[in-house]
Amino acid sequence: MKPITVMTIFGTRPEAIKMAPLAQELARRPQINALCCVTAQHRQMLDSVLDIFQLKPDFDLDIMELRQTLSTITSKCLLGMEDVLSQAKPDLILVHGDTSTTFAGALAAFYHQIPVGHVEAGLRTYDKWSPFPEEMNRKMVGAIADLHFCPTVANRDNLARENITQNVFLTGNTVIDALKTTVVENFTFGEEVLNRLDYQHKRVILVTCHRRENYGQPMTNIMTALRRVADAFPDVELVYPVHLSPVVQEAAHKYLDNHERIHLIAPLAVDEMHNLMARCHLVMTDSGGLQEEAPALGKPVLVLRKETERPEAVAAGTVKLAGVEEGDIFSMASELLSNQEAYNQMAHAVNPYGDGHACRRIADAIEWHFGLRDAAPDPF
Ligand code: UD1
Ligand code: UDP
Repeated sequence: MKPITVMTIFGTRPEAIKMAPLAQELARRPQINALCCVTAQHRQMLDSVLDIFQLKPDFDLDIMELRQTLSTITSKCLLGMEDVLSQAKPDLILVHGDTSTTFAGALAAFYHQIPVGHVEAGLRTYDKWSPFPEEMNRKMVGAIADLHFCPTVANRDNLARENITQNVFLTGNTVIDALKTTVVENFTFGEEVLNRLDYQHKRVILVTCHRRENYGQPMTNIMTALRRVADAFPDVELVYPVHLSPVVQEAAHKYLDNHERIHLIAPLAVDEMHNLMARCHLVMTDSGGLQEEAPALGKPVLVLRKETERPEAVAAGTVKLAGVEEGDIFSMASELLSNQEAYNQMAHAVNPYGDGHACRRIADAIEWHFGLRDAAPDPF
């Protein structure tokens, strides 16, 4: 039988981390001609992931601009995909999650009447404005997609509530597949400050913060609370790899510079990030990906947001919503740093998001859908 052509489309750091192991899995399948198109909505932060996973895209739209807007990202992706899809004529395109690249990639495929598979489908907060614009991006992609790859049962149930029940596969999250390849016992960091930290006697708090709905006052509150935490606990070392967004850079440096135990560093390569997470005491973040990775590594997470589309680890007790008010964030962090029992209750490894076999299930489901395999994959 003639192989089918499957094109992965992604553009930002988290999409790349979660699509790289899938792109590799597809490339290993003899019945699949695997193509990869990056929009480069992120540039340096994307290239870093491509390097680690040794992925060489077949197409690169190179769209990133300094301080880009949602409209420029979406329109440049859509126009750029025009030639790519006409030339490559894939049988299926795969997009991931909820970024502007995800939405524009799905829309471009729809305009070309090409089937769409949505990886990490079915996450919802049911708040149109938070996360912004991600909640609407993933809903719109859900409406366009022909195949839906849900990480968890709750994600599948969310789609069912929207009457999406056909071609829905329960796969686990591919981020756990990625995590299995990066964390090792004896890791030497490229970032020198991370080799110098005393992980035995100091408590390292890993911080990230970048979400658009946190721009402005929420980000000010978060940064102020973080500085208070470092001031109040002399054995805390706060490590914050700062996202390259100028808005985030400005906020982080304005409130967190000039403190001997706050380390503002450049974005980390994904293997450095995962190994730092494996060694830290606590994670404070507004990131989606970190909420999935840290529980698998047994690290408590305080989420710097008002809601989350990832309730599974909250239910398992390893993640708590800290909100975006300075006082709330400070008091929740203080509790975990002062009360060993409260800390221990959160610090156990759970894996609600995956078992490391999501990519195999997704590739199997695609082959089954196209008649290249007899059985659908076992659900996660
Ligand atoms: C995007 C996604 C968000 C995701 C996040 C992951 C949208 C609307 N947002 O948000 O869902 O959680 O990525 O990190 O799709 N920049 C660089 N170099 C880089 C990357 C970014 O300089 O490698 C700077 C550029 O000035 C760019 C800005 O960061 O304009 C913002 O990037 P953008 O992709 O628009 O938004 P993110 O906040 O990264
Ligand atoms: N990450 C990384 N280096 C960093 C910060 C994050 O490799 O300096 C990884 C992190 O481990 C996770 C992903 O990037 O896999 C999350 O990306 P981000 O927080 O930018 O986006 P989100 O998940 O919120 O969409």
